[in-house]
Amino acid sequence: MKISTDSRGEIIDLPPLPSTLNPFPEYDKLRGKGPVVRIRNPVGTEIYLITRWAEAVEALGHPHIAKGFEHLQYALKAQGRSGPGAGTPIGGTVAGNLLNTDPPDHTRLRSLVILAFTPRRLEQLRASVEQLVDSLIDRMRTGAEADLIADFAYPIGITTICMMLGVPEEDRLHFRQQAESVMTPGHPDQEKSLALLQTYIAKLIDAKREALVEGASPDEQTDLLSALIAARDSSNALTTDELRSMSYLLLIAGHETTVGLIGNALLHLMLNPDQRQLLVDDPSLIKNAIEETLRYDGSVPYTTFRATSADVTIGGTEIPHGSFVQIVLPALNRDPERFDDPNRFDIRRQIRQHMAFGHGVHFCLGSHLARLEAQTAVGRLVQAFPKAELNCKPEDVPWLGTVIRGARSLPVRLNE
Ligand code: HEM
Repeated sequence: MKISTDSRGEIIDLPPLPSTLNPFPEYDKLRGKGPVVRIRNPVGTEIYLITRWAEAVEALGHPHIAKGFEHLQYALKAQGRSGPGAGTPIGGTVAGNLLNTDPPDHTRLRSLVILAFTPRRLEQLRASVEQLVDSLIDRMRTGAEADLIADFAYPIGITTICMMLGVPEEDRLHFRQQAESVMTPGHPDQEKSLALLQTYIAKLIDAKREALVEGASPDEQTDLLSALIAARDSSNALTTDELRSMSYLLLIAGHETTVGLIGNALLHLMLNPDQRQLLVDDPSLIKNAIEETLRYDGSVPYTTFRATSADVTIGGTEIPHGSFVQIVLPALNRDPERFDDPNRFDIRRQIRQHMAFGHGVHFCLGSHLARLEAQTAVGRLVQAFPKAELNCKPEDVPWLGTVIRGARSLPVRLNE
């Protein structure tokens, strides 16, 4: 970390935090510097990072720490910059979705999408997820080794969100490469992949709309995209751009995150065989095991960008109007003021709340779905292969970039 000072005080030049098994000492260092630290990221964007639990709760509920596209654009201009360089593709460059709107627009959009996440809808998906998990486990039984990401976590994450949205089966596996480059800042194909995904979604919406117009029975069109199209066309409840942007957000936010979580849970259970044995002996611990994974090594390292819409003071630090703010979720989830012995992975830990899904009005809409997928996948895999072990050194596990925290592959010997 290179530290310099300017008229606003200290600023740290922060390289991308390491994508390794244990980046947490770096988060500890950031937290140790204070509740709010001003950094400059590798593309030159200045950001106020919030690293402690108490200040994060304050910031995530603050009326002047906003997410609206206009505030993000203002903050970009305040830094004398324009263009998408400062944004993450899920939050920054695509206008009109939940992640870059504030109330009342955010409230309107969220109330439409939340309809898709009712307990009844989730229960309908549960049987399909269980079936999918079992079929992937059966397929793995035919060999002695497997990659728990490519052969297990990834197909579960992508298939589930595609079932929910109504993306045809033959299109699903193409997403991996595109999604990965979209989620990797600085990836040479980032812009191209973003454009490809957006074009794909626009075409899919047109095809579904045509099906609706041609009188496909509404019962046949119960997927989320069709429901949103109906909301758009019947009552002008959202604009066409918003519809596209929301669909894109759900597709991207709804799979890489869950794949990361499933992989992280399986990895930490393999690396902590005593904890895995507890789970094998008492399968009802699975809910706790997933909550502990979310706390200990959740798959989203930062909240998406926010920007101050007035001068704000958090944790004694003045954050001027037009500044970017991000909350460092892993730093909060290992804040020793909040959690005893925070660096211990303990699936019996009683967690009242963690921050892996964020907090406040933007709290993750997919948290129940993610839990359903992860509990089903991890619970069943651990029972099927209770002695599986990593087929490489833990430090050789390849990690994704910095937007999603998750293994790119997890080679294992199944040891049936
Ligand atoms: C928002 C994490 C899975 C859809 C968020 C936020 C976090 C998060 C931290 C808040 C972002 C912010 O405040 O800037 C996660 C994690 C997941 C997961 C760790 C899995 C382990 C999902 C799934 C879906 C989803 C499966 C969809 C099916 C969304 C949406 C938002 C969101 C739509 C925006 C909500 C809003 O702004 O009102 N997620 N997510 N997420 N997530 Fe998730």
